[in-house]
Amino acid sequence: MCGIVGAVAQRNIAEILIEGLRRLEYRGYDSAGLAVISDFKISRLRRVGKVSELQKAIEENPIDGSIGIAHTRWATHGEPNETNAHPHFSNDTIAVVHNGIIENYESLREELKLQGYVFTSDTDTEVMAHLIERERKSSDSLLSAVLKATKLLKGAYGTVVMELANPDCLVVARSGSPLVLGKGIGEMFIASDQLALLPVTRQFMFLEEGEVAEVTRRDVKILAPDGSVVEREFEETTVQHDAGDKGKFRHFMMKEIYEQPDSINSTLEGRLAQDSVIIESFGNRAPELLDKVEFVQIIACGTSYHSAMVAKYWIESMVGIPCQVEIASEYRYRKTVVCKNSLFISISQSGETADTLAALRIAKEQGFLASLTICNVPGSSLVRESDMAFMTRAGAEIGVASTKAFTTQLTGLLMLAVALAQTKKSLPQEEISNIIQELRTLPNDIKHALEMDTTIETMAEEFNEKEHCLFLGRGEQYPIAMEGALKLKEISYIHAEGYPAAEMKHGPIALIDENMPIVVIATKKGHYEKVVSNIQEIKSRKGKIIGIVTEGDKDVRELADHVIEVPETIESLTPLLTTIPLQLLSYHIAVLLGKNVDQPRNLAKSVTVE
Ligand code: G6P
Repeated sequence: MCGIVGAVAQRNIAEILIEGLRRLEYRGYDSAGLAVISDFKISRLRRVGKVSELQKAIEENPIDGSIGIAHTRWATHGEPNETNAHPHFSNDTIAVVHNGIIENYESLREELKLQGYVFTSDTDTEVMAHLIERERKSSDSLLSAVLKATKLLKGAYGTVVMELANPDCLVVARSGSPLVLGKGIGEMFIASDQLALLPVTRQFMFLEEGEVAEVTRRDVKILAPDGSVVEREFEETTVQHDAGDKGKFRHFMMKEIYEQPDSINSTLEGRLAQDSVIIESFGNRAPELLDKVEFVQIIACGTSYHSAMVAKYWIESMVGIPCQVEIASEYRYRKTVVCKNSLFISISQSGETADTLAALRIAKEQGFLASLTICNVPGSSLVRESDMAFMTRAGAEIGVASTKAFTTQLTGLLMLAVALAQTKKSLPQEEISNIIQELRTLPNDIKHALEMDTTIETMAEEFNEKEHCLFLGRGEQYPIAMEGALKLKEISYIHAEGYPAAEMKHGPIALIDENMPIVVIATKKGHYEKVVSNIQEIKSRKGKIIGIVTEGDKDVRELADHVIEVPETIESLTPLLTTIPLQLLSYHIAVLLGKNVDQPRNLAKSVTVE
C-alpha cells in the first residue's frame, strides 16, 4: 500500500528518496512521485508505474534539493494517473504526501472550492493540501497549521507536509497510518516503514496516534493532540534483515519460502525449555494471565486469518476452552459479546493492518482480560498497543504473498496452545514433551519438504491453461487448503477456492470435470480414510487430483494424478509441512504464467486503509 519517504538534510536527497521508495515497492503501488525545494520553488516529478520510471524521469530532468518528500501511491480515490499521484500541492507553496483515506473529503472539497481553491486531481489528499494552506494563513507556524487542519479531518492519515517558505523543516502527522522518524548526523528522515531508511540510519522514533511533529535537521518537536509537547528519544532498531537483496533467488517469494527453516528456528529460539514452552515468551505477565483465560477470541485478515483458523483447532483440542476466530473487518463493525476472562489475540505480519488495529482498539474498550498480538514487526502499532506481544522473528517479508510470516505465526500459535495446556494442565506431560521434540525437528522437516521443489516445478506445467482450481482439506488441513487457494489466486490470478473436503458435495462437486485440478491434502494423520473417500468421489468425476501425502503413502498414490510427499510428524505439526508444497506450487505456476510474483496486481503488503 502507499509508501512515504521524506528527508531534511544538507546534501542532495533525491537519491535517498528514490532508494527509500524502491525499498517500499514491496508494499504494492501504482504510481510514484517526489518533490524537493530547490531554487526557491518546489519541483515535482510524478510517474505512473514503477519507481524505476520515476528514477528515469529524474535522470532526464535532474532534480536537486536538501529537503523533500516522496510517495508511492496505491489508488483509492481516482485512477492511477500522473495527476492523481502524490505529492499534491496547494498554491505551489504547500506540498503534501499522504497514506490513508480522508472520509469527509467531499464536504471539505466543496467548502474549499467555495473559498476559491482549485482542484487538479480526484484525490482526497489534495483536500489536505488546501486545508493546510488555508489554516497556514491564520497560524504562526506550519506545525500549528497542520495541527489545526488535522482536527478537521475524519479518517486515516500518515502525512508529511513541506512548505516553500520554510525550507528547513517538514511537518508530519499520524492518525491510523504509521510514520517513523529516522535520525542521521545533522539530518532527519521520515518514512511509513523503517525499512525505507535502513541505508541511512538505524536510529528510529515512532509517532503515536494523533501526534503532529516538526522535523528539522537536528530536532524533532512532537505535539500531542491537545497541543502539549511530547518528549521521546530515538532508539536503535533491532531490525536485522536488509530488505534489498534477493540473494541467489529470482524472486523474494522464493527466497522467503527457502528461509522458513531459519525463520522457524529463530521463532523457537530461547522459548523452549527441555520439555515445555517458556510461558514468559508471550510476555512477563503471561503466566498470571494465561492461567485466568477461559475463552480465546482471535482476529486477523488474509493469510493471518488462516493461521488463526488453524489455532482454533489446536486451542480447542489441546486446552479444552472455546476459541472463536473472526475476520477483523467483520469483528470491528458488529455488536459482539465478550465472555468473562477472554483473551483477545490479533495476528498480523505487518502489525499495521487497519482493520486488525481497529479491532484491537475496540477490544480494549470491551472488557477483555488482556490483548496479545502475534506479530512480525517490532515497534509496529499492534505491538505497541497490545498488552502482550509474541514476535514471530521471520525477518522482513518482501514478497506480497505471505509465506515465512505464515509458518512462523503457526509456530507461535502452536506454542501458545501448548503454553495454555501447560498452565491449565489439560494435556499429559508426555504429549507436551512429544510436541516439543517435534517442534525442535520442525526446521529440518521443512528443509526436507523443500526438496520436492523440482518435482513441483514440473507439475506446475499442468496448470498452464487452467482457470480454476479447488483445494480440499479436513480438520487442521482445511485452513491450509484455504491458504493454498489464496496463494494461487494472489500470484497467478487463477481462480481458486479452499473447501473442507466433505463440503465438496454441497456445491463445488458440480464444477468437477477433466479440466478441474483439485489439490487434496491427504496426510496420514487426521481423517485419512475419509479424505481418501473424497478423492474417490473426485476420481469418478474425472477431476485431476494432486495429493499432498505423507512420505510412503500408497492409497492416494494409486488414485491421484500426482502426489507430493511431506515428512511424517505428529498431527498438530502437519499443517506447517503441508503449507510448503502449496507455496511452491503457486510460485511455480505464477512464474510459468509470467506473472509478477513479488508484486501481484492490485495487492498490497500492508493494508493500512480499511
Ligand atoms: C495483505 C497482504 C496479505 C496479508 C494481509 C493481512 O492482504 O497482502 O499477505 O495476509 O494483508 O496482513 P497482516 O499484515 O495483518 O498479516
